Amino acid sequence: MDFGFLTKYYGMYLTGARNTLLLAFFTVLLGVFFGVALALMRLSKNPILKGFAASYIEFIRGTPLLVQLLIIYYGLPHLTGMRFPDLFAGIVALTFNSAAYIAEIIRAGIMSVDKGQMEAARSLGMPHSMAMKHIIIPQAFKNILPALGNEFIVVIKESAIVSIIGISDIMRTATIVRGNTYRPFEPLIVAAVMYFMITFTLSNLMRMMERRLRASD
Ligand code: ARG
Repeated sequence: MDFGFLTKYYGMYLTGARNTLLLAFFTVLLGVFFGVALALMRLSKNPILKGFAASYIEFIRGTPLLVQLLIIYYGLPHLTGMRFPDLFAGIVALTFNSAAYIAEIIRAGIMSVDKGQMEAARSLGMPHSMAMKHIIIPQAFKNILPALGNEFIVVIKESAIVSIIGISDIMRTATIVRGNTYRPFEPLIVAAVMYFMITFTLSNLMRMMERRLRASD
């Protein structure tokens, strides 16, 4: 094995890591925004909102991210007549995908709060929205936060797929370096180690955070 190419290409890998992190960060940020909306729609009593959210979530979770990515990458210019930067298509596809999973995380978090909590709040005279805001959501938060951290890690790994539309993330860098150096193997090892360093750091941070959340129980 020869990792000599790193002296020349380490900067490119670091840029790749930055892009992977940016991609995952914006995906989860926007994903939380749309995910909350989808979760509330799915929990609502309005059958149209409920049906839309449920179908969206089922469809996204039932089709491969690769297919969704290509549909958006080729579909956006086709439908709108406009060219978007590749990065934009990548973030849109990952966000649409992640929002469905985040919606379920949030819904599960809200439903995990014992229904006696809502009943007690209502019997004290709190309106539904007030009980939601002051009683249910703060308790749901403890279940939601660790799962969201998990989703962030999943998105970091799954984002490797956007390398196929030319976004310069870690995976794309590995592909370019493989072509430039005629080394099919070692550049991938570097990519794997970089992904692992990122996810390992994050999962340790999450463990620390969870310990603190538990301490306040
Ligand atoms: N590889 C999975 C798929 O193709 C991606 C799942 C994304 N998961 C997530 N939690 N965002 O469907």
